[in-house]
Amino acid sequence: MAENSKKGFYITTPIYYVNDVPHIGHAYTTIIADTISRFKKLLGEEVFFLTGTDEHGQKVEKAAAEKGLEPIELADQVVGRFKSLWQDLNIGYDFFIRTTQPLHEKGVQKIFQKLMDKGDIYKGIYKGWYCVSDENFLPEDVPLEEDGYKICPDCGKKAGVVSEECYFFKLSAYQSRLLRFYEENPDFVRPPSRMNEVVSFVRQGLKDLSITRTTVKWGIPVPDDSDHTIYVWFDALHNYLTGVGYDWNQARFQKFWPADIHLIGKDILRFHAIFWPVFLMAAEFPLPRTVFGHGWWLRDETKMSKSKGNVLDPYLILNTFGADPLRYFLLREIPIGLDGNFSHEGFIHRVNSDLANDLGNLIQRTLTMIQNYCKGKFEEIGEEEEEDENLRLEYEKLKKRIIDYYEEYSINRALEEIWIYINSINRYLAVNEPWKIAKDKTKRKRLTRILFQAASAIRVISYFLYPVMPESAQKAWNFLGEERPIQKQLYQELKFEGLRPGQKIKTPSPLFPRVSLKDFLKEETLQKASSQKEEKMEYVTFDEFKKMDLRVGEIVEAEKVEGTEKLIKLKVDIGTEKRTMVAGIGDVYSPQELMGKKLPVIANLKPAVIRGVESQGMILAAEVEGKATISFFDKDVPTGARVR
Ligand code: MSP
Repeated sequence: MAENSKKGFYITTPIYYVNDVPHIGHAYTTIIADTISRFKKLLGEEVFFLTGTDEHGQKVEKAAAEKGLEPIELADQVVGRFKSLWQDLNIGYDFFIRTTQPLHEKGVQKIFQKLMDKGDIYKGIYKGWYCVSDENFLPEDVPLEEDGYKICPDCGKKAGVVSEECYFFKLSAYQSRLLRFYEENPDFVRPPSRMNEVVSFVRQGLKDLSITRTTVKWGIPVPDDSDHTIYVWFDALHNYLTGVGYDWNQARFQKFWPADIHLIGKDILRFHAIFWPVFLMAAEFPLPRTVFGHGWWLRDETKMSKSKGNVLDPYLILNTFGADPLRYFLLREIPIGLDGNFSHEGFIHRVNSDLANDLGNLIQRTLTMIQNYCKGKFEEIGEEEEEDENLRLEYEKLKKRIIDYYEEYSINRALEEIWIYINSINRYLAVNEPWKIAKDKTKRKRLTRILFQAASAIRVISYFLYPVMPESAQKAWNFLGEERPIQKQLYQELKFEGLRPGQKIKTPSPLFPRVSLKDFLKEETLQKASSQKEEKMEYVTFDEFKKMDLRVGEIVEAEKVEGTEKLIKLKVDIGTEKRTMVAGIGDVYSPQELMGKKLPVIANLKPAVIRGVESQGMILAAEVEGKATISFFDKDVPTGARVR
């Protein structure tokens, strides 16, 4: 890795496209980055945390045109939404870069020019299959489909052939240097499994990369050749330089570049692990330490994304719970490298059990006892006995593990450790029963020691929870009579027995609401309904509706489709014949309970092959949280009757 004399810690998120509104997936990356940034600050490091928006390119041009807006107007609107979400999620970024900012555009042009002068960029003709949706030429090994087209392997959409004059970047010239760099820096791509993926891709050979377009107007013009605009990925990746001051804030740039960690979703790993280091090598910048490709949040086992229409609006949770429970859930539920399936049931369960029960109750109970038995402060604390010492010693061992986990970005493991300790504090109180000791006037000192010990333990766990749940941790810290903001307390100076004698403990208010799943789903349905009302309703005419052959079907056979979790193959009698239909209802209904049931079906839906089975129609069901609920007809409704 190139030498550098930098002094600060630099962390980035991807810059998000503005043709989409922010969803849980974007929130996830940004929450991880914020947590790491807060953690590093507790260690006393100077941190620069960059996020922002990727605003150029064809997709944004198209999305704006569809809304009758100029691209920059659309970008301004969406930037507003991202910024307010980041505020509501308590994201403390240090700079928000927009690729339409002159400071960025100028920086990109300068680097482009430098690479032209060096001969790493040259002009030529490119002909290839191009995916408009991903703004990317398809790899050449993608096969032709039967209809003569190619399908984009990333998004599954049809690609078209594009032939244009463009500038190329000499990616091929860097293959061996890049492989050497990976070898010398095995931690460059994390987790390690992703590194293997990248290395084998590069070993297959790198071709020169077309990095300009003449078909896209909404982009940064090539210096002295403004018919060409710079390809969005070349434009976007350089945000990591311009956002930290390249060419406009030299002092900051010197202090923070190269980045310590580019946090990204695994969808954009190749751009970051292959193109980006090569662009930097060519322009002679030191290379970043780590590109961390995290997993995806899925809904029903598929990636949440706008094109699939399955994204989750973070406000469904934020409006009821605030930021911390969402931050906690996303970070606790899965290790950063793996995928996770998002369900509201899972969320409510975690929040009620970990936050409301284990942590919230502990704080509430302990502080209430300090109020009731000690008038809210500790005077005359008894000697430390073995039990008390154990609680303190457990913390002394634990803190190193927590720090190590945070350091290696295993935030879920750090949280697990914290919860082990929360359980120990709960156990400590259960064993020592301060509520019983309080009845005996001669045991005042012992009582005060127990409550002091528990309060000290709560204080240190609040501290370690701060990166993940900054608001609740700060509140708990203040309940304990600590006046300063947590971020002013350096980790190196944190002591277990940090509570001053006589420090006044406040009466706590509940930190985490307990919400039942039923109530939450009611709330969620209401919120969804009101946001959908704002969207334009698409009408069908009666004639269009009449084309649908809706009937009462009777299930005469039902069996699971092998190798799937949810699919059930049904034989449905529709009055005139029996049809095979495949339905994704196996997670809710068993084949046995479906037998003999009558339900609404569409009989004239074009057949489709699902997992090798031809489905000749479709059953109708309501969808709640991705799960089916079927409204069955009474037994005496005749099979095959029309549904109108
Ligand atoms: N603009 C490019 C990135 C350029 S960075 C130089 C882009 N933008 S994006 O808006 O599509 O955001 C992609 C990022 O959003 C992913 O890499 C990931 O960080 C986050 N996520 C989007 N959907 C996600 C999930 N379903 N799950 C987790 N994170 C995902 O690509």
